[in-house]
Amino acid sequence: MAFTLDFTAMTEPVVPAGVREADWPALASHFRAAHRAVSDIAATGVYGYRELEQQGDERARVGAFARGVHGRYEDVVVLGIGGSSLGAIALRTALLPPAWNARSGAQRGERPRLHVMDNVDPRTIAGLLEMIELSRTLVVVISKSGGTIETLAQYLVVRERLERAGLPVAQHLVFVTDPVKGALRAIATRDGIPAFAVPPNVGGRFSVLSPVGTLPAALCGLDIEALCAGALAMRDATMGDVLAQNAAGLFATLQWRAHAQAGQGMHVMMPYSDALRDLAPWFVQLWAESLGKVDADGLNVGPTPIASVGPTDQHSQVQLFMEGPADKTVTFLRLERGAEDVPIPRLEAGEKALGFLGGHSLGELLDVECRATAGALSRAGRPSMTMTIGAADAWHVGGLMMWLMQATTLAGALYGVNPLDQPGVELGKRLANAELGHPDSGAPIAGTATSTVASRTLRVD
Ligand code: PA5
Repeated sequence: MAFTLDFTAMTEPVVPAGVREADWPALASHFRAAHRAVSDIAATGVYGYRELEQQGDERARVGAFARGVHGRYEDVVVLGIGGSSLGAIALRTALLPPAWNARSGAQRGERPRLHVMDNVDPRTIAGLLEMIELSRTLVVVISKSGGTIETLAQYLVVRERLERAGLPVAQHLVFVTDPVKGALRAIATRDGIPAFAVPPNVGGRFSVLSPVGTLPAALCGLDIEALCAGALAMRDATMGDVLAQNAAGLFATLQWRAHAQAGQGMHVMMPYSDALRDLAPWFVQLWAESLGKVDADGLNVGPTPIASVGPTDQHSQVQLFMEGPADKTVTFLRLERGAEDVPIPRLEAGEKALGFLGGHSLGELLDVECRATAGALSRAGRPSMTMTIGAADAWHVGGLMMWLMQATTLAGALYGVNPLDQPGVELGKRLANAELGHPDSGAPIAGTATSTVASRTLRVD
């Protein structure tokens, strides 16, 4: 297994507010308590995201379905939002070759292009529907609850288009939803639409290794068994209660400690690898929606995750990370080895500004810049960690995702919150549902979705 966490720059004397040698015993015991809390909760069966052995049959059904439709569709369109879309986006970016959707069918091995519609902006949906040939399209509707208005609205739009085109819906739609409950399950049963189950004990943002992520991945020919094998290997490596030996525990504890004891609650995730760049927004959702809560004492707690991309954001956010408020940690995410490297030609040897670059490579430059940014942050007293994974392949990406999910459940215990719920998003949903006339949107809510008082606006023509 090839995963490394370098946390040197979270410690003293490398950074002034870092962990001192004398702090480790107390941190180890905080971690043991958090680990005990997670184990007690796990015994109730709620952490289905890591019980991948029990999902083997459904995974086999996903694989068989994907093999069965190989060559039939030119485009796969995923409709989903939040935990029902970010995992598929991260897997697409990490594991499919660059510019997948721009490649010809032959270059894609007759696998479909993959579009993930994670918003209801009419411009985007209308643009996609104009571009694709519906008769050669499979639409994957993903909603664990089967009740998310954004996804259901998209589904209605697409279904009407399919019916208008006289296409059999059961051959152009597939659902990923609760095994028993919800509108999508009922429609699938009624119309004979194929449907895959999200286990009830797998939460939305923890569901990438269920059919929520594996179905889109398998349809594009990705190895979902390797993805889950890597995740299982990481799961097994992050189950112990010894802080120094648990990579998920270390990540969670160091982040929590930086926040609780050093006022560093802004947690930047900064991949230095285009393959891993969409892991950052996936992590942002996981960390934010799981940990930003009201704790048992009624306190508002939780870190603020920030997505960044290296070296692109060296020319943007890094100024803030270096000289802005000292309230951040930066986690660099990098590959041990990229798939391929591109040598930089020895041209313009006489030019001081660029001659020296000849003979190096773009991969080397990427890596040097990652180390240089970490070094610069350390010199400015700003803490960072570096997560390195062996390669951008299914096994390692599955391992990385499990690493961060395990860290999130442990961080939940450290922050004293339930990482699996999201009560804070309910009111906004109710307000929107009420305004649109949902029959079960609950007790009447005063005012409109936007405001209960006269609005104050300034218009500039
Ligand atoms: O993490 C979560 O639970 C959420 O982000 C959900 O994934 C999101 O709200 C979509 O929910 P659903 O899959 O039920 O449509």
